[in-house]
Amino acid sequence: MRVVLGVGGGIAAYKSAELVRALQQRGHDVQVVMTRAAREFIQPLTFAALTGRKVITDLFSQSGGEDTLSSAVEHIAVAHENEVLVVAPATADLLARFSHGLADDFLTTLYLAFEGKVVLAPAMNSAMWEHAATKTNLGILQQRGHVIIEPEEGWLACGTLGAGRLPDPVRIAEQVDSITRRKRDLTGESILITAGPTQEALDPVRYISNRSSGKMGYAIAHAAAERGARVVLVSGPVSIPAPHNVEVIHVRTAQEMRKAVFDHLEETSIIIKSAAVADYYMANVPQQKLKKTATRLSLELDPTPDILAEAGQRKGDRLLIGFAAETENLVEEARRKMISKHCDMLVANLVNRDGLGFDADQNEVDIILPSGQAVHAGPADKKDIAERILDQVATLRLHLRAVEKPA
Ligand code: PMT
Repeated sequence: MRVVLGVGGGIAAYKSAELVRALQQRGHDVQVVMTRAAREFIQPLTFAALTGRKVITDLFSQSGGEDTLSSAVEHIAVAHENEVLVVAPATADLLARFSHGLADDFLTTLYLAFEGKVVLAPAMNSAMWEHAATKTNLGILQQRGHVIIEPEEGWLACGTLGAGRLPDPVRIAEQVDSITRRKRDLTGESILITAGPTQEALDPVRYISNRSSGKMGYAIAHAAAERGARVVLVSGPVSIPAPHNVEVIHVRTAQEMRKAVFDHLEETSIIIKSAAVADYYMANVPQQKLKKTATRLSLELDPTPDILAEAGQRKGDRLLIGFAAETENLVEEARRKMISKHCDMLVANLVNRDGLGFDADQNEVDIILPSGQAVHAGPADKKDIAERILDQVATLRLHLRAVEKPA
């Protein structure tokens, strides 16, 4: 794979030479781009000798004639020729310039023109790393879908102990490797995912809801987009950022979620229902705030529409993946729900354990396949669980295609 390595101006720039070697040892073809500051720390000649290629240093390095034109558009050519842009060390200054879209040298201009995967390995003094401005810039870059390889703790060049050291070049090369190996097995699919809770009003200020954070559904949406799918995410009220390359439709109630799901049914090939939809709502919400009284308050609630069950009736040849949140008899209950709601697959999770399921970063699930077999996954980060679920979805899709169209 063709990788362009951007070298920023930090003391860790010398490690970039080792990174070139580590990338080459994994079969990558490396083009180096250096900032002006990087050249204060290491000579372009080192990289030219390692890569056997001219090192790009300036936006306008030629003087006069046709060369000026070819140099002026070189960043576009480099952007098109390479599949991954790795910046190591990514200084605080580079993070700020990338996040704000400044384009005053070759590397920042290349970044704006680049359409492939971006991997940033920040390295700096620990106070700069902890600064609110750096954190804000990193947040913006993360939201754009870039991979951030966090710096390590240790003794820094400034003589202090803390976070900010560029990770081992072999570790960075391994991350680049895992990105380039990533599957694109959902290309061509249009996936609709529901996530988060719904809120059902009791009066103008109160509502019934649940502890769903949306993390599970958002992780699936992010992973599905990375694997090449077009993704629509119908999300209840949550406080996490929208994944990159995903269309998010914000809803509040079960009724609104139902409408959003069926408005998009036509263009959808796979539906994944990870949302924790409220089962009951108040049909006649009082116009005024309920008054506090000394006596017991009884609320009359009606069932919300069962979106999953309706999707099971209307799915046609779409794949339908339901979820089940249980506190006992997990697999049995999940199998029952899967059959009664006409799902092709169902993800079951126990939701009465600390640190897993609702509002947690991790989950542990049983994925019930069409045969009824349960495939166990976790405990693991929700992003890993999301990949395991999508592995099963992609396998099922392939299997069904093969059955539909025998060779
Ligand atoms: O959001 P997180 O904090 O990351 O937590 C993730 C999760 C625990 C919410 C998630 O993993 C999960 O289990 N989601 C399903 C929660 C749920 O509502 O389960 P259930 O067993 O009550 O519902 C079964 C299925 O029917 C679900 O696919 C649900 O989306 C669907 N349903 C339920 C009620 C309803 N009125 N309409 C529905 O479509």
